[in-house]
Amino acid sequence: MADLHDRWVMERRHEHYYKLAKKLNYRSRASFKLIQIDNRFGIFKPGDSVVDLGACPGGWLQVAKERTWPGGRIIGVDLRYIRPLEGVETIIGDITEDSTMLELLERFGGKADVVLSDMAPNITGHYSMDHARSMELCTYAMDVCDRILKKEGKLVMKAFMGDMFYPLQKKLEKRFQSVRVHSPDASRPTSSEVYVICRGFHAKVGIDLREPKVEEKEPEFRAKGGYI
Ligand SMILES: C[S@@+](CC[C@H](N)C(=O)[O-])C[C@H]1O[C@@H](n2cnc3c(N)ncnc32)[C@H](O)[C@@H]1O
Repeated sequence: MADLHDRWVMERRHEHYYKLAKKLNYRSRASFKLIQIDNRFGIFKPGDSVVDLGACPGGWLQVAKERTWPGGRIIGVDLRYIRPLEGVETIIGDITEDSTMLELLERFGGKADVVLSDMAPNITGHYSMDHARSMELCTYAMDVCDRILKKEGKLVMKAFMGDMFYPLQKKLEKRFQSVRVHSPDASRPTSSEVYVICRGFHAKVGIDLREPKVEEKEPEFRAKGGYI
């Protein structure tokens, strides 16, 4: 019975954000996740420069633009072509490849205030494989931060929960003053997807990028409400 109810809630919520995205001219429902995250955690300031990884079709780019203009600079990267959006630069490429990383560093040519990653692997339905691929993408997003994020900068990153998440969280905690795990209302309630909100980047100083594997007890995940 509870499962059926959860499913009903999920479908209604899915439909609600889908219709709202159409009405407000957002390219994806995902826009509302970033809006809710920004409203709660205060990610953007006018004039910020933003790198958005996994940016297609562009819902997060639209939100980043709205919240950093005037003066903001935004660049989106994706494997897939991103329909042009005025005032936003895009790179088509795989961020796990050196050529894409180099193009990003060269084109951006400076440091970013915010790195976003909504990257997701193609879902296979095999939970452990999807989780492992998500963790790999998160590691690349962290690598982008090490190269391009300003001291005191912010990272908002999607992750699929699983046993490899805690070591990743530990690495993030070495790099940032604050790391919070959050599930916005616009995420599907049954999804294993969470967003990691990291603030106060320490920059590379004092961080050994070849960190030893951290093995500690996994934090408790609140089954109903998720994190935070
Ligand atoms: C959930 S979608 C992003 C939605 C986007 N945030 C929006 O609001 O429109 C995830 C994206 O991650 C991209 N992606 C996955 N792996 C990637 C990689 N290695 N390099 C670049 N983009 C990647 C996919 O192509 C896909 O478009």
